[in-house]
Formats: sequence, structure tokens, C-alpha cells
Amino acid sequence: MYRSHNCGELRASLINTEVTLSGWVQKSRDKGFIIWIDLRDRYGVTQLVFDEERTPKAIFNQAENLGREFVIQVRGTVIERASKNPNLPTGDIEVLVKELTILNTSLLPPFTIEDQTDGGDELRMKYRYLDIRRNPVKNNLIFRHKVAQAVRNYLSSKDFIEVETPYLIKSTPEGARDFVVPSRMNEGQFYALPQSPQTFKQLLMVGGMDKYFQIVKCFRDEDLRADRQPEFTQIDCEMAFVEQEDILDTFEGLTRHLLKEINDVEIAKFPRMTFDDAMRLYGNDKPDIRFGMQFGELNEVAQHKDFNVFNAAELVVGIAIPGGNSLTRKEIDQLTDWVKRPQIGALGMVYVRCNDDGSYKSSVDKFYDETDLKQWAEITKAKTGDLICVLSGNTNKVRAQLSTLRMEMATRLGLRKPNEFAPLWVVDFPLLEWDEDTKRFHAMHHPFTSPKPGQLELLDTNPADVKANAYDLVLNGNEIGGGSIRIHDKATQAIMLKHLGFTDEQAKAQFGFLMDAFEFGAPPHGGIAFGLDRLVAILGGQETIRDFIAFPKNNSGRDVMIDAPAPLDDEQLKELHLKLNV
Ligand code: AMO
Repeated sequence: MYRSHNCGELRASLINTEVTLSGWVQKSRDKGFIIWIDLRDRYGVTQLVFDEERTPKAIFNQAENLGREFVIQVRGTVIERASKNPNLPTGDIEVLVKELTILNTSLLPPFTIEDQTDGGDELRMKYRYLDIRRNPVKNNLIFRHKVAQAVRNYLSSKDFIEVETPYLIKSTPEGARDFVVPSRMNEGQFYALPQSPQTFKQLLMVGGMDKYFQIVKCFRDEDLRADRQPEFTQIDCEMAFVEQEDILDTFEGLTRHLLKEINDVEIAKFPRMTFDDAMRLYGNDKPDIRFGMQFGELNEVAQHKDFNVFNAAELVVGIAIPGGNSLTRKEIDQLTDWVKRPQIGALGMVYVRCNDDGSYKSSVDKFYDETDLKQWAEITKAKTGDLICVLSGNTNKVRAQLSTLRMEMATRLGLRKPNEFAPLWVVDFPLLEWDEDTKRFHAMHHPFTSPKPGQLELLDTNPADVKANAYDLVLNGNEIGGGSIRIHDKATQAIMLKHLGFTDEQAKAQFGFLMDAFEFGAPPHGGIAFGLDRLVAILGGQETIRDFIAFPKNNSGRDVMIDAPAPLDDEQLKELHLKLNV
């Protein structure tokens, strides 16, 4: 028997009990005549004591030579500690060791296995198994398990069935590139790894499963960011015989349950906002509504003077930064340079100081008087002591720029509190989105999303105006889920694909299986998928998903621990009918 107890469970009530523990040597303090060792496992840390008088000599000598991260087993007696550690659950006791077995030695770890480590990101990723021994990573993984478990319990209690769908499939269009797998048995042909189980979950509805979910890996070959990994996990869900309201209701229920269960936060009803309002008020389809700083559109009160920059702009829009008038001229100039960086791309920034005496002072005083600036302040809801920042230009660009500034200022002002939760449904997304690069409309969500009732005809005349029965769930400024009511008849699906630029042959080749299925009694259906990694990170008070994934990829999509991706040898390439290396 390796252990009678774990390293986190011994308490004063067990004093004088004989115990056996196994774990890793966290650290050792050798005072010459007495040695203390912190023994660690997943459950905690227990102090071991070896003392010249009470510990057999051979064992004492062995203890002197134990290195960090050695794996040991000890047998001994629980005794009361002379100096207790109130910060440790096991801090009242220590184990006086009588027997010691070294189960394995360890090289000196390349970084310290402490809550605050000296290891950089790449090093920690290369030795991820050591990183996982650290509390912050270990606790994140345990936290992720808890969330996933709560999701499974909740959905199962609501009659959802977890069904696995295949990973070796044909391309599913979710907007990213596919990862592909060559087929050995079918020369020149490839599987694609699913960007999501979208078509399969719809086929499960045709199959009568009625309520499906799956905690499932998805694969997308896209540029990586803090909230994106090439392989990530979805809580993928679909329901039959539902309207948008049923889906919002069900998954608001799930999210509310998680917030209560995991964070002990109660939120009665999630607010809803249309996509158009989100863009107008926050310049963003995933607004963080934990704080104000809503956009104020200023065209009407800023385009009547001789300031040509504003007169020529499609949109003039501002936000009031709370307390921003305390910024010095130099700091405001730095902020202007910040929004002008190529990553943000603003042409410039106009500002208005809202002075404590109720007067205004702006960087465009030449053009605008107090009456104008007072109107700007009213529209942006600026108070005395605030700073109004105004950007202008092309509507879409300027909204994105001001949104970035809004988030940056909120971060600097400490308004994005990690333990405050503000969920929001964003609804009524456009069905289509214009893509400048390809000069074509793309499905904003995916091609299976249904237009709002009665709007199908608009596709021919005003495609950009067609709204979809599509919705996102936003939490603290992050898109944690998205879904839609689907098209469930062949004719509408064909019209949709035609508008997305598919010829009949292409549509048949790529989605024939789904359209055929629609001819065999497909029920009305809809669903949603949550990004589990994102959801877990945000519930855990963070926004970087990598720290909640056991073995993540780095920013170039590499697993630096196993060194993947990697070349294949010629033999394997040949078998897969791929070109040989020359
Ligand atoms: P969507 O593409 O919006 O919808 O994805 C659903 C959710 O998955 C998360 N997500 C990601 N998380 C980490 N890394 C990524 N690369 C990544 N990409 C997406 C986001 C997102 O909200 N089939 C549809 C769902 C449906 O219609 O039911 C879909 O996949 O949190």
C-alpha cells in the first residue's frame, strides 16, 4: 500500500496515528540535527520531520540527500507541530518519519514548482507535466473538471443525451481553415477534422434524438489569440421542435446554474441586445457591459462647423472616460498615439476636457464653442471630471477603434472586475456579412442558419439587411457561445447556398447528405455551442484559455513539449500517397 492518507488530509484529530504517505519533495530544510520536508501531492502539502534522536540513523542520512521533486513514500506518526502554520490545512501537525522509501529520483526541475514560478511561458509549456504540479495550473484543471461536470449534470437532468460524432469528416464551414488528414486507403483523398459537429448534430435531430449535447473537441486552423486555440472544446447542443426563445431560455438556465454552482453568483434574467444596438452603443458584437462608457454618436452636433475631418466622416462618435480629465496633456497625447498605432488605426483623436467648474476645453476649440461641447457631453453622458474622446471615419472602422479604446480604458481604470459577471444575449444578427477580400457575402454564423420569418425574399434585393435567428451569449466582453435556428427544408437551404456563391453541383457535393436528410422529415430545430475553454477561463476570473487547457499549443500552433507538428518519414508519406521529401 503506497499510502493510507493523502498529503492534504491529516489534521490534529489524527495525532498519534500511524500513517503512510507518498508524494513529491516540495522543499527541504536541513538544520543539521533536524530536517523538515514538505511532501506534496494533488491534495496538499504535509510537513515531514526527521530528527536525529527519534528517526533511525540510516533514514536520517537518506533524508539529508533527498532532492526537489524526488518521489518518496514515508511511514510515521502524526504529531503536533511546535510552531503551527495557520495558512495550511495540515498546518497543526507534522509526520515524524520512521521509514522512508525513495520511489523515484528527479532531475532538478528547470523552473521552481511554486505558485509564483521563475519559468517563462515556453519553458513551462515544454515541461508542462511539471507545470501541472504547480497549484495555479492544477487548480485550473480541477476547476475545468467541475464546470464540465456541472454542465453534464444539468443537461442530463433536462433530458439531453450526450452523443459522440466523428472526427474524421468532410469540411464543415465555420469560417476557419480545416485541418486535414490524408486517407491511406483512398488515394488522393482527405478527411477534414471538424470545426464543429454542426451538420452531425442537425442529422441527430433528423434522427429524432430531440435533445443532444456533447463536450467535444473542435479543430480550426486560424490565427491564434489569447482566447483561441487550434483545438478547443465546445459544449455543443441541439434541440428539435424549438424556437429561438426556447433555446435562449434553456441555455440561460444552464449558464445561470453554472454561475450559481461555480461562482455563487445569482443573476435573475440575462439582458438582451440586438446586434445593431451592440454595434451602435459599444462598436462591438460582444460588449462588456460591466461598465458604461457607451458610445455617443455626434454627427448631428459635430458636422455643422468648418472642421473638415468631421464633416467628411461617415461617423463621428465619442465616449466619456470617467475621471479622464485628470489625465495630463502628455498622457492624452500618448493615448492619441496609442489609438493611431497600426493595430488600431485611428486617424487621430479629438478630446474634450469636462472641467470641474462645468466648463469645457477641447482640442478643437477653434471650431466648436461651449454650446457644441455641452451637447457632446450630453450625448456621451459625460460628467464633470470626465474626458470625452472622439474618433471619426468609416463607420465600421471607427466603431472597432473606439471599442478597443473603451476596453483599454476600462482595463486601466480597473472596471473589468474578474469576479463580477455580466452575461448578455446578443440577438438578431445579420444573416450575411460582406467580405472585402473576396467581394462576396459570407454566412455570418454558418450556412445552415435560418433567416427570420418572412425575410427570405429580401435576400435577392437587400441581402445585407436580412436578419437571422442567430444569437450569441456574451460574458464579460467575451463571446462564450453562439447558435441559431436552422434551415430544415431543402429548398431554403438550396437558396441560401446559392446566395453564398455555391453552384448546384458544389452544393450537392458538399452538403448533399444534409439536404437529402431534410427530405426525410426533418423537424424544426436549432441549437448553440459554448466555448468550454473560454467559459471556464472567464468563470475562473481570467481571459487566457491556455492556462485552463492541460496541454495547449503555443502562439504558432506548436506543441513544444512533444514537438508537433513534425515532418513524416518518406515511408509514411509514400503510404499516404503524399509527395516524398527530396
Ligand atoms: P461558433 O463558431 O460561434 O459556433 O463557436 C461556438 C463557440 O466556440 C468558441 N470558439 C473557440 N474557442 C477557443 N478557440 C477557438 N479557436 C474557438 N472558436 C470558437 C467560442 C464560440 O462562441 N456550430 C456552431 C454553433 C451552433 O450554431 O450551434 C459553432 O461552432 O466561444
